[in-house]
Amino acid sequence: MLSVKSLTKQFGGLTAVRDVSFDIRPGEVFAVIGPNGAGKSTLFNMMTGTLKPTWGKVFIGEDEISGRRPYQIVARGVARIFQTTSLFDQLRVIDNMMIAYKWRTGLGFWNTLLHTPGWKKYQAEAFMNAMETLAFVGLAEKSEQLIPTLSQEEQKRLAIGIALVSKPKIVLLDEPTGGLIQEETDRITRLIEKIREQGITVCLIEHKMQMIMGLANRIAVLNYGEKIAEGTPDEIKNNQAVIEAYLGGEIHA
Ligand SMILES: Nc1ncnc2c1ncn2[C@@H]1O[C@H](COP(=O)(O)OP(=O)(O)O)[C@@H](O)[C@H]1O
Ligand SMILES: [Mg+2]
Repeated sequence: MLSVKSLTKQFGGLTAVRDVSFDIRPGEVFAVIGPNGAGKSTLFNMMTGTLKPTWGKVFIGEDEISGRRPYQIVARGVARIFQTTSLFDQLRVIDNMMIAYKWRTGLGFWNTLLHTPGWKKYQAEAFMNAMETLAFVGLAEKSEQLIPTLSQEEQKRLAIGIALVSKPKIVLLDEPTGGLIQEETDRITRLIEKIREQGITVCLIEHKMQMIMGLANRIAVLNYGEKIAEGTPDEIKNNQAVIEAYLGGEIHA
């Protein structure tokens, strides 16, 4: 589904990610875990086209996506969760969703600008798609509300919804429960399970160990930029290198 081959990123003298490779299989939840500063977000940014790798490649099937622009990567069925700060505060939930839909489908830009004959039909289509996705992420009732009235958890749900409007094959999430309490984390975990049930592959970057153990099919562990282990949750739990990295005290379950 998605392959990462020897990805490396250097910032000046610092190697944030070193020679990391893995293959994500269709339909699974693949998690990348590791302590703060391990290189998870840098890896994520290289996978989504936000950062150019110093070395290495990313493939969707046979198609190399490293070096392509973020929108080209989206067009190949890869969607990432956007930081909640990229939501438009002055607009309602539904408007944020419709804008995302129009951006992702490209078509919407000229149609909206020129009010072409196709515009009304397109508008209705965008609205239906947005409402459907809002229902899926549990925000149908909030569609008329402005962004600042949403809770943190609801904003995360909306960010996930925005990633889903492009009907991706794989969705990449960087700490989707960052800043949430346990109860909220559990609900987002269930939403991620629901995404997998739709047949969408999920790559999840996380440092909450406990959440990952119940959710992921397979896990890669990063420590100081290097992949120190890969396997099922049971294999990871019993892996000596992982236990040592964790006893190093930086990872909080
Ligand atoms: N743009 C950047 N310039 C310089 N150093 C960076 C940059 N982004 C990240 N780093 C460094 O790379 C390392 C990995 O960071 P990051 O990928 O954010 O880790 P994680 O997401 O696992 O917490 C850290 O030491 C961080 O300070
Ligand atoms: Mg990070």
